[in-house]
Amino acid sequence: MLALCVDSSILLASSGALRPGLPVLAPSLYYGGFGGGLACEASQISSRLAQKLVDEKGRLVNSASAPTSFLARHDFLLRRLHSLTGLVPVGAYMVVHLVTNASIWNGAEAFQKNVDTIHSLGVALVVVEWTFIFLPILFHAIFGLLIIREGTPNTSSYALSGNIRYTLQRATGLLAFGFIGFHVAHLHGWIHVDWWLENVIVPLGGARFDPHNASATAAAALRSSPFVSVLYLIGTTACVFHLANGIWTMGITWGLWTTPESQRRANWVAIGVGTVVGIVGLAAWTGFLFNDEIDVESRNANEHRQVNADPDGTRLE
Ligand code: HEM
Ligand code: HEM
Repeated sequence: MLALCVDSSILLASSGALRPGLPVLAPSLYYGGFGGGLACEASQISSRLAQKLVDEKGRLVNSASAPTSFLARHDFLLRRLHSLTGLVPVGAYMVVHLVTNASIWNGAEAFQKNVDTIHSLGVALVVVEWTFIFLPILFHAIFGLLIIREGTPNTSSYALSGNIRYTLQRATGLLAFGFIGFHVAHLHGWIHVDWWLENVIVPLGGARFDPHNASATAAAALRSSPFVSVLYLIGTTACVFHLANGIWTMGITWGLWTTPESQRRANWVAIGVGTVVGIVGLAAWTGFLFNDEIDVESRNANEHRQVNADPDGTRLE
């Protein structure tokens, strides 16, 4: 079913003055199938911004206070950028990352080789990480949080699977935010600066991954407690759902599937991506938890080599 979502808020006239009561800021189409809330949300936000220009009695407020915030003025561009970064580079990175981690099933040596290839970039790795991973994730996450804060979940009003998925997209976005924040601190440390690592992250139990002893340190970190193991499972599953369902909503954002029929077909794209990436994620998770080939006891081997090489011998065990 195709339904029309009409925003009957006030209109910003071409003169820049506000005319209360005039209909339609931006009539937007939404689809009665799932994702019903998505397209309406933009106009709800614009509507809310516009309503701020009318006082409690509905009187027109000075037009000099028109919505001039950066976010309101660049809403269209920011939403497109948010959508794009979700797929590339963040989504693409996650898929490659999970495939690399699942390679642990090919043996500790194969995994170590993959890690060595990535780390052979040396200092350039920091630039690559920040340009293609951290900054896009931070942008997508921060703008995503703003969308979540402004949006209204409408599962109670419409018992359609679309509205449940609309809410799940936001819920998994929040889970992804918490998980990625924790996970990167736990294994990587976020910033590779000695002071930060020594005084903040390591005392908190983070930066556990040592690229020179990749499989043992990653496995030890994931096995450190049942709570941590389950957190990785929940976090990874949430990220996979968020990407798969996000690919479906992207199709609407970019006008790829606009009819109810094409949207139904696109369900299969989302289900296919979700299933394949979900299996890869599960392979990564089970690999670090249950692969007997990983010699977790050797997790401090590199550290011990460094301690034994200490010239004044004060740290020898
Ligand atoms: C880090 C925390 C994250 C937050 C807070 C977040 C939040 C959101 C929100 C609220 C949406 C819905 C946008 C809308 O309906 O207009 C969304 C869409 C999306 N997200 Fe995320 N997300 C996060 C992480 C991720 C990750 C890790 C990925 C990829 C693995 C990802 C991929 C996507 C995709 C592909 C979309 C669809 C964009 C569209 O509908 O046009 N997100 N995200
Ligand atoms: C069972 C699942 C996972 C495992 C075993 C795992 C493993 C790892 C390891 C070993 C590192 C350290 C790499 C290094 O410092 O060189 C890492 C870093 C990272 N992981 Fe994961 N990860 C998993 C799931 C995820 C998911 C779902 C995301 C979501 C996007 C993610 C995002 C990241 C990011 C952003 C980094 C830091 C950047 C980097 O070092 O490459 N991970 N992960």
